[in-house]
Amino acid sequence: MPSTRPSRAPRHRAEPVQHAGGPRRRPRVVAFVLAGLFLVAGGTAGAFALTGAFAPEPEPLAQTPAPKPTRPPITPAPTPTPTGPYRESLALTPPMGWNSWNYLRCNDLSEEGVRSAADAIVDRGLAKMGYRYIVVDDCWQSGRDADGRLIADPERFPSGMKALGDYLHSRGLKFGIYAVPGTMTCANYWDRYPVRGIGSLGFEALDAQTFAEWGVDYLKYDWCRADINDKMTEPPAFALMEEELRATGRDIVLSISEYGESKPWTWAPGIANLWRTSHDLHPNWPSLRDHINAEAGLAKYARPGAWNDPDMLQLANGLGPNENVTQMAMWCMLAAPLFIGTDTAKLEQKYVDLLTNPELIAIDQDRLGIQGDRLRDDGDVQVWGRRLADGSYAVAFWNTSYSNLTATATLDELGLSGTFSMRDVVARTDLGETSDAVSVPTVPHGTTMVRLDPVR
Ligand code: GLA
Repeated sequence: MPSTRPSRAPRHRAEPVQHAGGPRRRPRVVAFVLAGLFLVAGGTAGAFALTGAFAPEPEPLAQTPAPKPTRPPITPAPTPTPTGPYRESLALTPPMGWNSWNYLRCNDLSEEGVRSAADAIVDRGLAKMGYRYIVVDDCWQSGRDADGRLIADPERFPSGMKALGDYLHSRGLKFGIYAVPGTMTCANYWDRYPVRGIGSLGFEALDAQTFAEWGVDYLKYDWCRADINDKMTEPPAFALMEEELRATGRDIVLSISEYGESKPWTWAPGIANLWRTSHDLHPNWPSLRDHINAEAGLAKYARPGAWNDPDMLQLANGLGPNENVTQMAMWCMLAAPLFIGTDTAKLEQKYVDLLTNPELIAIDQDRLGIQGDRLRDDGDVQVWGRRLADGSYAVAFWNTSYSNLTATATLDELGLSGTFSMRDVVARTDLGETSDAVSVPTVPHGTTMVRLDPVR
């Protein structure tokens, strides 16, 4: 292992704070001053500074999530750096793949589990439909070496992360990994994961470089109470890692996760490729319902390379049959990142078919990148719509009730006029033509999604 930080071209920005005595290794109290200077597009300068003190001594592990103390309002971020277009170019359509968390969580995570998921993703035709990023979530870390470099748990990942990345690449896949901006990962809090000192605070450049050397293509950077534990603020903390990733010279998609608390859609475009809009999605109806509802009004913040992320798929993890369809259809309506979080080797074929439905994926991945928004909420049915690049239009009828209902939207309220062919893109059946309205059956908690193509 190299004992010094790799050299790189000088850049016009403040270096991350170096703590006396080399990489910081769990000091009791350390005064922390981090200043980031960002050049804005017009050549003027925007600057922000984060000051404070943090005491990263581990807290006793909580058994259950504690209520979050109130926190000061978030300072608006500076204008995104001029390299926003570079950042956006890394994910011009919503990223798709598999993430270990919803299936293996913390204690079951292993190299074997990740490889087997990746193999199934390829062998079962999911990779060729776009599911390419294989993301190793929390609990892969076993500490840092004498140089401060992150090390993977040698029991869980006996071949090491570089070998895992090489394997994924050899299968035509991409490699994703998990880290946190503060001192503790979420599993340190909620899963009693005992390994300490694995947060990136003070190690941002070294961690980014390590990930690049391992062949990482995607970083999930997860907040995990860094405000409370480390007195950090979201925009500069995430922007710093964005800079460090960029400085490695390797193209690494940046996925940030702070659960929507600082309204990241207002500051993260140009810094992150995707940002979580809410807390973790659980495989049950109230959670699914709330996560979709939380997206209403957020469409205007998304664009190619900068996506709202309502969290990963819980499809096939215990949702009802219609709810599984709703998650897939609505995530595609929302131009959401699609990360499978289940046992892909044992997945029933009907779920593989749903996940690989080419007509749904084409909507999710539409190159215009216009996220669908809610047009109407009748209380028992919601109508969502989005324009697509080829001049067609996708409309989703989401039944939030416990009854079978017929749902209708006029072309007028969709902003359309003329004659359109209608296709049910979930059932993959043609529904004829219309010049005035779309009217379709819907099932409890299900979604009927129709694509409208202008008839010449
Ligand atoms: C948070 C995130 C999850 C997962 C865990 C890992 O809860 O929201 O997606 O990454 O942390 O500990």
